[in-house]
Amino acid sequence: MRPFDGSTPIGFIGAGAVGGSLSLALHAAGYPVVSVASRTRASSQTFASRIPGCVPYKSLQKLVDSARFVFVTTSDDAIGPVCQSLRWREGQGVAHCSGAASLEPLQSAVDQGAAAAAFHPLQAFSSVEEGARNISGATFGIEAGPALRGYLERMAQDIGGSPIFLRPEDKALYHVSGVLMGNLLAALASVAASLWPKFDHTRDEGIRALIPMMGAAARNLDANGVPQGVAGPYPRGDIGTIRKHLEALRSSAPEYLPLYCELALAGLPFAVEKGALSEELSREIGDIVKSYRESGES
Ligand SMILES: NC(=O)c1ccc[n+]([C@@H]2O[C@H](COP(=O)([O-])OP(=O)(O)OC[C@H]3O[C@@H](n4cnc5c(N)ncnc54)[C@H](OP(=O)(O)O)[C@@H]3O)[C@@H](O)[C@H]2O)c1
Repeated sequence: MRPFDGSTPIGFIGAGAVGGSLSLALHAAGYPVVSVASRTRASSQTFASRIPGCVPYKSLQKLVDSARFVFVTTSDDAIGPVCQSLRWREGQGVAHCSGAASLEPLQSAVDQGAAAAAFHPLQAFSSVEEGARNISGATFGIEAGPALRGYLERMAQDIGGSPIFLRPEDKALYHVSGVLMGNLLAALASVAASLWPKFDHTRDEGIRALIPMMGAAARNLDANGVPQGVAGPYPRGDIGTIRKHLEALRSSAPEYLPLYCELALAGLPFAVEKGALSEELSREIGDIVKSYRESGES
């Protein structure tokens, strides 16, 4: 089979946040993004308007016929049905960008002679403009056979990313780590900001005040790793402060007490590993936190 390389024509099915961001990054790196098709004409026209020479197709089949390598950047649930509805040809390549899905949704293309892969940017995308900026520096989780392995490894590097290869059986856990960081961290930030109206400030003020802390926490971990980058009253062993937190939550926001307790307990081993907290003090703090967690359950 002719190898895939930087001159292979690329098409996109699905003109959303990831398709739009990835296509811009590929175009900037010199990869030919030649075509796009999406569920709605408006989405594919907007996508194509950002990339000179990119043709928006109404028909998904014409898109597949126009490109040698196709990214299916639809929602996860649509990948299989879309792939199955199309005719693929020998020597073509197709990839989805889902972190959790296996290559199974692309099987019908493989049955027709195409090579299939997963190319997952470990990053949070909510808009094309932000996404195109954030893609550089992202890790890409790749599942691919020999025909696409080198091509996608090089592609990730060319757009400023770091490729890693994943076994199918490890993908769910890999995706959990990404969702904990990209999505559940946003949920945690939303919870933290939701405490602000309880002391007469708005949630918007809260999130604006807390975001610089998210940035600093990320920079500390980036500079020092785990566990040296962890900080706060738990590694310090500040029992008095910890009791104040637990009391305040119990009286003002008991709905968040279990979440706080679980996170605090999950963090204690890292404080001990850092050498900041003795085993004994960690056990003492753990018992206090557990007693509040259990009182919240009753
Ligand atoms: N968002 C993230 O943070 C993120 C991160 C990493 C990986 N991913 C993965 O990237 C993929 C795309 O996610 P996304 O966030 O970019 O989703 P998205 O913004 O909702 O975009 C999905 C696009 O797919 C199109 N589409 C949906 N069903 C279709 C169908 N049956 N036929 C043709 N086009 C269809 C939609 O079309 P219209 O606009 O035309 O309606 C939309 O443009 C998913 O596999 C997701 O798991 C997402």
